[in-house]
Amino acid sequence: MKNPVFVLIGAQVVLYLLYIVGSGVYRTLTVVGALRRYPDGAFAKDEVIAIPDSIHCEDLHYHPQSGTIFTACEDNNETRFKWFPPLANLDHPELAARSQGSLHVVDPKTMLSQRLEFENFQGPFITHGIDVIPDSELPDGEAVYIFAVNHVPNTKLSDGKGPRARSQLEVFHHIIGSSSAKHLRSIWHPLIRTPNDIFAASATSVYITNDHYYSEHGPMRAIEDFYGGAKWTDVVHIQLDSLAAAEPTAGLTATVALDKTHNNNGLGHGRSEREILISDCSGGVLRIGQLPAGSGSGNITLVDSVKVDSIVDNPSYFADPYASNPADDRSGFVVAGLSRAIDFSKTMRNATAKDPVMVTYIKPSLGSDNWETRVLFEDDGTKLRTASAAVLVPLDPAADSADGAAGTRKAWLFVTGFMSTSIVAVKVDL
Ligand SMILES: *[C@@H]1O[C@H](CO)[C@@H](O)[C@H](O)[C@H]1NC(C)=O
Ligand SMILES: *[C@@H]1O[C@H](CO)[C@@H](O)[C@H](O)[C@H]1NC(C)=O
Ligand SMILES: *[C@@H]1O[C@H](CO)[C@@H](O)[C@H](O)[C@H]1NC(C)=O
Repeated sequence: MKNPVFVLIGAQVVLYLLYIVGSGVYRTLTVVGALRRYPDGAFAKDEVIAIPDSIHCEDLHYHPQSGTIFTACEDNNETRFKWFPPLANLDHPELAARSQGSLHVVDPKTMLSQRLEFENFQGPFITHGIDVIPDSELPDGEAVYIFAVNHVPNTKLSDGKGPRARSQLEVFHHIIGSSSAKHLRSIWHPLIRTPNDIFAASATSVYITNDHYYSEHGPMRAIEDFYGGAKWTDVVHIQLDSLAAAEPTAGLTATVALDKTHNNNGLGHGRSEREILISDCSGGVLRIGQLPAGSGSGNITLVDSVKVDSIVDNPSYFADPYASNPADDRSGFVVAGLSRAIDFSKTMRNATAKDPVMVTYIKPSLGSDNWETRVLFEDDGTKLRTASAAVLVPLDPAADSADGAAGTRKAWLFVTGFMSTSIVAVKVDL
């Protein structure tokens, strides 16, 4: 007969293991949306404004000094379904080679989008993540640098071998209020392999995420997507000697600033100059990191993380300009993502499919170290197909008081997706 004590301990170990494995499985099923349903008519019921001429814009950056939003768009309904290396869609390099998306400025007052004309830039522009930072040599608010990922096809494949995309970064300069963006240089380095998003600490110190280790479709890439233990991606720091190099590879050094992390995706500026937001996309986690002190060299230190119930794409930080005291402060992070990522491998090449979305607002919980999360916007994909970035544009409570009870605060939430026909805006309570 077996010793009853060992039987008891054995049962406890089994229960404990089931609990650990079970909670991990439950978390994964939640994040990929397997437990979520969108029956007919489950779309967002609030008034949703669609911004004209904003096709397939992946990222959004709010520039408070000018009160405008910057984005990069495909401007075309087709290319994204035929060539988008971040989704391992490498079907039509020849279409990509003759496609050129553009940078746009969206005005939250008129709800219109303006395409910026390029100066000094030809060739393909397959858009993805961007960053927008002030030109510190001019008075605040006069001009910005715009950094953008560009997924150009690799035209120099030897015998059809090697990576089929040769993704690089583009640097532009834009005078606020003008109608153009001047191209300064391109950036390429072997460490830039699967770039997703950009964080510019200054005009010459830039971080990028590589979102996958495996750039092509297959079982290893599937493991990378769904197994959080596959910590195979990194964040690369690029130090530029010059903004005027003629060759993409000239005048720069690159180093790995954060290694062995899972599915690094969007990057965002946080609450201080040194705070960097890094999303673990398919893990549904917003990570908060600190840049090294001083300029550039050194590693990023991760200091905190927040779990979200959908996959997490580009994060943004909303700094509440109307907070009168800590209890009244609506500052927080905003993340957007697919809310049924589980279906995405079936829909990603289908121009008429829907992909449901979720936008989550993350605020420090007053008087504790915890975070509060709240879903600000959810849609079955009817009003917005795919969500990859969201920003809040505050509404002045004095001007807007007729709209709600005392103490309530409103903002415009702008959300976009890498496969959305347009950016949308919806008024939300904070
Ligand atoms: C893109 O598709 C949308 C929705 O199908 C359509 O309304 C729009 O006219 C198309 N735009 C272009 C430039 O083809
Ligand atoms: C950064 O991290 C790498 C490992 O990923 C390590 O080899 C390197 O020494 C670190 N650099 C600094 C300055 O801490
Ligand atoms: C594309 O999506 C639409 C809408 O869900 C669906 O009716 C159609 O069958 C899909 N096409 C393919 C080829 O899967």
